[in-house]
Amino acid sequence: MAVLALASASGSPGVTTTALGLALLWPRPVLLVEADPTGGSNLLAGYFRGTREYEAGLIELALTASDLEDALADVARPIEGTTVSFVAGIRSHTQARAVRDLWAPLAQTLADLESTGQDVIVDAGRLGMHGSPEPLLEAADLALLLSRTTLPNLSALRSWAETFRRGPGDWHQSSVILVGEGQPYTAREVSGVVNLPVLASLPDDPDSAAVFSRGAAPPKRFQTRPLARALTSAIAAIHSTIAGRRTELLEGTPS
Ligand SMILES: Nc1ncnc2c1ncn2[C@@H]1O[C@H](COP(=O)(O)OP(=O)(O)OP(=O)(O)O)[C@@H](O)[C@H]1O
Ligand SMILES: [Mg+2]
Repeated sequence: MAVLALASASGSPGVTTTALGLALLWPRPVLLVEADPTGGSNLLAGYFRGTREYEAGLIELALTASDLEDALADVARPIEGTTVSFVAGIRSHTQARAVRDLWAPLAQTLADLESTGQDVIVDAGRLGMHGSPEPLLEAADLALLLSRTTLPNLSALRSWAETFRRGPGDWHQSSVILVGEGQPYTAREVSGVVNLPVLASLPDDPDSAAVFSRGAAPPKRFQTRPLARALTSAIAAIHSTIAGRRTELLEGTPS
C-alpha cells in the first residue's frame, strides 16, 4: 500500500487516536511514526500508560551516522501481539530543531519501505508548529486532515485546506477525515466549504477513543463499536483512494 500522513489544523480532533486506531486495525504490517513536533510520546504516555520505557526513537534516528534504513529498523519497536511497530516521537519540543533535517531523507526511506511489505502511518500533529514534519506530509501518498465540524475548527481547516490543495506536484493527494460529523455540520457541507473531499467520518465515541488515547480497558465487543467499525471503513476508503490514484498515474489520466 503506501505512506499515509495525518495532521490537524486546530483543536486536537483526534489525530493521535486515529493514527493508532488505524494502525491497530490495519490489514498489513504497518509502521507508526510519531512525528508530532510538540514532544512527549503519546503512545508511551497514553496507550501504554507510562508502563513502557522510552528506549529509542526519532531523536536517535536524527543523530545516527549509519544508513537511515538500518537505523529505522533499529529504533522501531513492536506493539506486542500485533503487526504494528512504532517509532517513538521526540521527548521534548526542544528536540524539534534536531529532527528538522531528518524529515526529507526520512520521507524517502519511508516510501521505500513499501517494497518490504510494510505500510506507514505518520502522526504529523498540528500543522504550523515549529519543526512540523511538512516533508513527510508532502511526500505521503495520502495526506489526511482531521477535523471536528465546529465553526472554529472549520475556519482553521479551510485555511490549511488551501495549502494542501496547492501541494507540490500532481502526485499529492489530500482528503479530510471528520470526527463527530453532524456536530453540527455534515460531510457535504464541510467538503463544500473547504473544497477538499471528505474521505471518512469517525463517530464521536469517547469510550472507544480512550482505548487508543490513554490505554483504557476496551468496552465490550470493542470491534463492533462505532469507532472500530468506522476505522475499518476508513481503511477501505484509504486503500481504494490510493489504488485509484496510482492507476491514474500509471495510465496518465488526470484526476
Ligand atoms: N472519535 C473520537 N471520539 C471521541 N473522542 C475522541 C475521538 N478521537 C479522539 N478522541 C479524544 O479526543 C482527545 C484528543 O485526542 P488526540 O490526542 O488523539 O488528539 P490530537 O488531534 O492528536 O491532539 P494533539 O493536537 O494535542 O496532538 C482524547 O481525549 C481522545 O480520547
Ligand atoms: Mg496528537
